[in-house]
Amino acid sequence: MAFSPIVLIVDDMPSGRQSLESLLQEQGYELFLAESGPEALRLAAELHPDVILLDVMMPGMDGYEVLGHLRADPTLAEVPVVLVTALDDLESRIKGIEAGADDFISKPFDRTELRAHVRTITRLNRYRNLTEEREKLRRLSHQMIDLQEHERRSIAMELHDEVGQSLTGLKHIMEHVRKSAREPNTTDQLDIGLGMIGELIERIRNLSLNLRPSMLDDFGLYPALSWLASRSREQNGMKISCNFNEFDEGRYPPAIETAVFRIAQEALTNIARHSKAKHAELKLIINPDAILFEACDDGLGFDPEVVKENHFSSGLSGMQERARMADGQLNIQSSPGKGTIIRATFPVKGVAAK
Ligand SMILES: Nc1ncnc2c1ncn2[C@@H]1O[C@H](COP(=O)(O)OP(=O)(O)O)[C@@H](O)[C@H]1O
Ligand SMILES: [Mg+2]
Repeated sequence: MAFSPIVLIVDDMPSGRQSLESLLQEQGYELFLAESGPEALRLAAELHPDVILLDVMMPGMDGYEVLGHLRADPTLAEVPVVLVTALDDLESRIKGIEAGADDFISKPFDRTELRAHVRTITRLNRYRNLTEEREKLRRLSHQMIDLQEHERRSIAMELHDEVGQSLTGLKHIMEHVRKSAREPNTTDQLDIGLGMIGELIERIRNLSLNLRPSMLDDFGLYPALSWLASRSREQNGMKISCNFNEFDEGRYPPAIETAVFRIAQEALTNIARHSKAKHAELKLIINPDAILFEACDDGLGFDPEVVKENHFSSGLSGMQERARMADGQLNIQSSPGKGTIIRATFPVKGVAAK
C-alpha cells in the first residue's frame, strides 16, 4: 500500500513552523502543524504521524512534557519524535534522550541535514510497520486457528464415523468366524487379530477425542468439560472438581464453546505438567451478560511476568489468542507458592435467558 508519511510539526512560533514546512514541502510528506503542546497531543492521537518534529521551547506545555505524554500513551509510545533544539545545546539533548526522543535537529536548520533526518526516520517507519505487521499476524493466526479447528473436527469425524465403524464391523465378522472356528491354530490367530482390532478401536477413539470430542459439538460445554476433567483424573491421578452453576444442557455461541474447551484443555495440561497441585478445579459460571471460566490449582504457581520474558510460551499465549478470538479476555493470576488461576471472561447478551 503506497502512502505519504505523515509529519507533524510542532512549534509555537509561526516562523519556526513555516521554515520546517517549507523545507519539507514537496518531499512526498503529508504535513500537519500544531501551535502548542495540547494541540500536538490532540493531532498526534488523531493522525498517528510517522514522525513528530517537536520544538522544545514552548510556553505552557514544553516539548519534554509533550514527549512525556506521548510516551505514556500506549497507542502513541512508538511514534518517532525528533526534538528541535538550539544549536549544540547539549543539556537539552540529554534531557531529551531521557524523555524518550529518537533524534534531534537544531535551529537554524541545515536543509540537507533536516531532510536526511526526516527521510531516514520515516523510511524506517517503525511505528506504522510494527502496528500493521502485528495486526496482520494476528489476523493470520486467527485464521490458522479457525482452519485448524475445522480440520480437526472433520478428521475427528472421519476417524470416529468411518474408520471406527468399519473396525467395529470387522470385529463383529471376526467374532462370528471365531465362534465357528475349530482348528486351534486358527482360533489362536483369530484371538490375536481380535485383540489387535480391539486396541485399534480404542486408539482411534482416543485420537478422535483428542482432536475434537464430538460431544462438544453435540452436547456442548458441560459434558465436554466434565469429560476433560475425568480424563485428566484418570491419566494423572489428580483430584479435579467441576463447579458449574448450571447443569442443564445450555448451548452458547460456538466460538465461545470452542475457546473455553481449548483453554480448559491447555490449563489442565499445564496443571498436570507443571503445577504439582493436589487439587484443581474447573469453574463455569453463566451470568446473564457473561460467561466466566476458571481453571484453578493449588500447586507451585509461577510469575507470569518472568515466564512472559524468558519463555516462548505457546500454551499461555495460545489461551490468550483463543479468548480474544471469541471477543473474550484471559487473565492469569499466579505467583510462586500460591497456585494458579486462569480466568477467561466472555461478554454475551442474554445467554442465560431461555
Ligand atoms: N498451572 C501451572 N502451575 C505452575 N506453573 C505453570 C502453570 N501453568 C503454566 N506454568 C508455567 O508457565 C510456563 C509456560 O506455560 P506454557 O505457555 O503452557 O508453556 P509450556 O507448557 O509448553 O511450558 C510453564 O513452563 C510453567 O513454568
Ligand atoms: Mg503448556
